[in-house]
This record gives sequence, structure tokens and C-alpha cells, in this order.
Amino acid sequence: MSKNQLFEYFDELDDQEGALAESDHKRVSVRRESKKRDNEARLFIRAQEFSRDFQFTYKAARFEEAWLLDSLAELADLEWISDVLRKVKGGKEASVYLCKGGRAADSPLVAAKIYRPRTLRNLKNDQQYRTGRADLDGSGAVILDDRTLRAAKKRTEYGEEVRHQSWIAYEFLTLETLYAAGADVPKPYAMQRNAILMGYVGDFASAAPPLSAVNLGVAEARSLFERALSNMDLMLKHERIHGDLSAYNILYWNGAIKLIDFPQVVPPEANPQAWNIFLRDMTRVCDYFSAQGVHCDSYKLAVNMWTSHGYKVVKEVDPAFLDAEKPEDRRAWSKQNKF
Ligand SMILES: Nc1ncnc2c1ncn2[C@@H]1O[C@H](COP(=O)(O)OP(=O)(O)OP(=O)(O)O)[C@@H](O)[C@H]1O
Ligand SMILES: [Mg+2]
Repeated sequence: MSKNQLFEYFDELDDQEGALAESDHKRVSVRRESKKRDNEARLFIRAQEFSRDFQFTYKAARFEEAWLLDSLAELADLEWISDVLRKVKGGKEASVYLCKGGRAADSPLVAAKIYRPRTLRNLKNDQQYRTGRADLDGSGAVILDDRTLRAAKKRTEYGEEVRHQSWIAYEFLTLETLYAAGADVPKPYAMQRNAILMGYVGDFASAAPPLSAVNLGVAEARSLFERALSNMDLMLKHERIHGDLSAYNILYWNGAIKLIDFPQVVPPEANPQAWNIFLRDMTRVCDYFSAQGVHCDSYKLAVNMWTSHGYKVVKEVDPAFLDAEKPEDRRAWSKQNKF
């Protein structure tokens, strides 16, 4: 069974489990039951194959175990990790696990972010972020092969797989670039297919909370706000806009911040929506810090930082990003064109 097939089985089983929990068991058709058993058997065999070489402390849910083993076995083989201790957070797009660092890592605790395949196959808004970005392969190299590039543009299974890999590679490459530049981001260790291994923020007992869950004193809020701004500035210097920056994607630990979650990074020069995306990041960051008592004018700050890097403020929205079905988008379009 290929890895992709395995992931699909995992997704399918997940759906079936959900459906079973919600509906009356009796109503589940016999066909579905037998398919479920068939998939379960395959996953069980796969998990058995792996568990001979790699066993971990974390008690995973039934199907999660095979998925985890499949995602992390190579990282364990390469001695990046020696154990999976617990799940830090299960998200829609990815789950993050606390792992014991292996001999190759220089830290006793590391975080593994494992992307769920299903969500990545349906990246709703990825077009907005893909514009102006080269597609990357599993090793983070720019894809130059025409066939693969054409495939990535199409909604075929293979095309979605290429985009999925590129999405993950952007997160890892961004962490590498920013970490090397001295930004406040977790240290990147390794990328293997659908998993990224990085420095863990927190301690054994608990992971760092996002800023959104923290109330700061005004003095601390001011200094962390300056720090967040200098990270945004450093990102622009390295031709990247976070694209989903907010107090939810900034972790707080021991009085310091770490920015996380970079798969959607946008190049400021090449994406026609770059200014709007940057302004949105700035506005969300300011929203949090204003609520913590810091006076800030997000628009002014965004304009100053943006133009200091030589970029132009482009207020127009590219029609390719407007949805004729949405009243607010129609309003934006008519305002822009002064109809
Ligand atoms: N390096 C890390 N150390 C500790 N915790 C982490 C780390 N990276 C991520 N997390 C935790 O996992 C959560 C999800 O990570 P991330 O934001 O990268 O993924 P996501 O797919 O965007 O998930 P979500 O949709 O929940 O934001 C974070 O909010 C944070 O709680
Ligand atoms: Mg996030």
C-alpha cells in the first residue's frame, strides 16, 4: 500500500468513525461495514510492520497510530526523534506532537507538526497564497519539470499532492530562513513528507500558550509588540509576509514570543494581494496588542514598514481574488471602479 493510499484510508476511517458516532449503528449499511473492516485490517497490518522498529509512549487513537508511525518512522530512523510523548494540539490542518529529541536533534524535546492529508487536498484559499510563489518539491527545491508544474495547476489527485508538498516545504524553508536570520521562530530540524520537526516551545508539563490566551501587563505588552513588529520587519527584509499572523500564531513562553505556522507565506513583490495580506497581518497583531493597552495605528504602521522596504501600497483588489457571489466583494469592486 502506498503512503497516499494509507492516508486516504486514514481519512476515510476517520469519517466513518465520526459517522458511526453520530448515527444509529443499525443504519450503517453492510457494504460500508465490510469496507471499514477491510481498511481497518490494512491499517492494522501497516501499523504492525512499523511497530516492530518504532514504539512510542503516546497512546494514539486507533487509526492515528498507523498514521503517526507512517509519518514519523523515517524521522525516528534518522534519529531525529526517539519517542512520541503526547499530542500538543490536534488541528484541522495539522496536529502537533511533543516528541523526545533523538541523537540528531540538540534538544531533549522537539515538536512534530504532521499535516493531515485531507485538508491539504482541499486547500480552499491556497490560490491566493500560491500566486507569485514557485512550487517546491519534497526536498524544498523549486520544481522545474514542466509536467509536474502543469499537474500542480490542475485539480487532479497528483496535482493536489504536488501542491500539498509545496505547502509544507514553504513552511519548513521559511522556518530555516527566518531562524538563520535570527527571527523569533522555533528551530527547524527536519522535513519528511507530511511532517515538520522543529524546536518545541514549552516544557514537559505544558506547551506554550498562544498570545491570544495570555493577558499581559502594559509594559510587557509594549515590549512584545515591538518584538512582533521587528519580526514582521525581518520577514519583509527576507521577502516574506506571514499571511496568517495573529495572536493565535504567536506563542508566548518565559516572557518571550515565537512566531509559528508559515505554510501560506507570501512574497511581497510577486503577489498582487501582498499589500492587503500584509495589512491584514498588521491589523490582527495590533488588535491583540491594543486590547492589552498598547496604542497603535495599524494602517500607519503597515504603510511605514511596507514602504521602508521599497514596496508600493496597492489599494486595488485584484479581480481574480473577488467573489461575485459576495456582496462585500461586489461593493469593493464597484468602489474601486467608481461605478
Ligand atoms: N513548536 C511548537 N511548540 C509548541 N507548540 C506548538 C509548536 N508549533 C505548534 N504548536 C501548537 O500547535 C498549534 C497548531 O500549530 P500551527 O498553528 O502551526 O498549525 P495549524 O494547522 O495552523 O493549526 P491551527 O489551525 O490550530 O492554528 C499551535 O497553536 C500551538 O498550540
Ligand atoms: Mg495556527
